[in-house]
Amino acid sequence: MKDMRTTRSAGLTVLIVDDASDTRNNVRRLLGLTLGMEVVGEAANAEDAIKKIGQLSPQVVLMDVNMPGMDGITATARITSTYSETVVIVMSVQGETEYVRRAMIAGAKDYLVKPFGADELVECIQKAWERETARRVKGQAAHSIGKPHGQVIAVFSPKGGVGKTTLAVNVAVVLAAERRAQVCVVDLSLQFGDVCVFLGLVPRRTLSDLVSETTLDAKTIAPYFMQHSCGVKVLPAPVSPEYAEYVVPEHILRVLSLCRTLFDYVIVDMAASFADTALATLDAADKVLLIGNMDMASLKNMKVSLELMQRLGYGREKVFLILNQAGYDYGIRFGDLEAALSRKVDFYIHHDDIPAMLAANRGTPIVLDQPDSKLAKRFRELVNEHLAPKQRGEEAVSLWRRRQAK
Ligand SMILES: Nc1ncnc2c1ncn2[C@@H]1O[C@H](COP(=O)(O)OP(=O)(O)O)[C@@H](O)[C@H]1O
Ligand SMILES: [Mg+2]
Repeated sequence: MKDMRTTRSAGLTVLIVDDASDTRNNVRRLLGLTLGMEVVGEAANAEDAIKKIGQLSPQVVLMDVNMPGMDGITATARITSTYSETVVIVMSVQGETEYVRRAMIAGAKDYLVKPFGADELVECIQKAWERETARRVKGQAAHSIGKPHGQVIAVFSPKGGVGKTTLAVNVAVVLAAERRAQVCVVDLSLQFGDVCVFLGLVPRRTLSDLVSETTLDAKTIAPYFMQHSCGVKVLPAPVSPEYAEYVVPEHILRVLSLCRTLFDYVIVDMAASFADTALATLDAADKVLLIGNMDMASLKNMKVSLELMQRLGYGREKVFLILNQAGYDYGIRFGDLEAALSRKVDFYIHHDDIPAMLAANRGTPIVLDQPDSKLAKRFRELVNEHLAPKQRGEEAVSLWRRRQAK
């Protein structure tokens, strides 16, 4: 897989938008030295940029934020809504992070902090373009092929400690143990992955070792899966945070698309971040379970995430909103909360720390450790009613299996 790191986007056409001629010249010079990149035009303001995009159809637009007249964020929103194929990358100076966040919501695919070097610039353009291409290919594949492969379900939240791992693990166990599906959990909480802890497994080889393999196929990946007694397989996260950086978006795309061919369900536990590895995961996923809690910080971050996912083109059918650790006594009414998020919460899971803590500390998922608890029942409902609705007749079979197991 190492060869992917040197993949080059052939003949990418780029438009540079910046009111400072120095910046335009500098970027033109840096890209002029790069094979496979062609600067097709420049614009000193947003209005001219929009006109030139119509004339030149660049594949990538490098957009400054602060410009006289229309600002780069408004321009980004206009461009991405009119020319959905165009990849916009925002260039900003340090300290404009709020603008950057708004630009991403406006549809920018990445951002560069000025001043930047040639390597950083080229890598940013290539990666943004590769992500976009992968997304398009996937979209086309989904249209042209029936349903040969498994589903990728990404469990995400912009905040830590909300219950992502708890959810990922319990959903996986219900699918494997009760629905008899082939399931793997890919731990993409790359720095502090704890799927193995929740399942009482001790990782040996991890994703950071896997990405150093020269080839990636069913045979090479097989020894990396850890097997839990309930049937779930796990691809463990690197054992220590410093190994996380070995895993780049291209690896994630390839690992997930391979896992899709091997399993019915690929559950991805994610970190609380919008890093490019996370964006690649979210793009590759068929479904995103967006998890939040009932505190203001979590709600604010959920709203920002929902807006960003909307800008990334994820529809209602892709993003499934779950409120975990919910309760009636937290000073926020469910109706107000949904109004603040401007959408309905798809599924509520109540707060119940005893079973959750006991299970986590025993290294046994709640649905196995306390199968009769209300939390376990709720996880089963999530799977059976929403994520993998049962076919006719299946209900009776699984009831029979549970009785047999007792
Ligand atoms: N519904 C719940 N009720 C009570 N505690 C919960 C619930 N869901 C998760 N927890 C607990 O919250 C803590 C954080 O959960 P975890 O799954 O590790 O979150 P994340 O993966 O988002 O960081 C854990 O101690 C877990 O046992
Ligand atoms: Mg976690």
